[in-house]
Amino acid sequence: MTTTKAQLLLATGLACTFAIGSASAQMTVVDDQGRTEVIYDVGTLHAAPGAQITYDYCTACHSEMIIAQQGQTRHGWDEILVWMVEEMGMGEIPEEDRDQILDYLATYYNPDRPHFPRN
Ligand code: HEC
Repeated sequence: MTTTKAQLLLATGLACTFAIGSASAQMTVVDDQGRTEVIYDVGTLHAAPGAQITYDYCTACHSEMIIAQQGQTRHGWDEILVWMVEEMGMGEIPEEDRDQILDYLATYYNPDRPHFPRN
């Protein structure tokens, strides 16, 4: 039993050739519009295109939980991002990145809260 488990772990390790660091495994996610993104660590955020860039920009100051607990329209998220820049000291995000983040948040963290964290 122990041997089987060890072999399995070894096989998994070998499969993750492109993993960054030893603990994180990379995966490619696709959404229903065919957009893809390579994800390596998005914490509790829903794994979908846009998650990695959102995680990277938004967890510099606080946990992603603060984001996952929100449900906003694209406009609502836009205002939150403006607020982060004007009041919280976040640097301006280049428009292309900002659009991706807003698309992601409005799709997966909208007012219907399809990915509200439950534990
Ligand atoms: C420069 C630091 C910084 C960055 C980067 C940052 N935030 Fe914030 N954010 C804050 C601070 C400070 C607060 C308020 C204090 C707290 O609750 O921790 C906050 C609070 C929030 C809240 C909670 C609002 C509420 O009503 O409770 C949300 C949602 C949020 N941020 C979203 C984001 C998103 C999305 C990003 C990435 C685009 C982001 N933040 C990036 C500093 C930052």
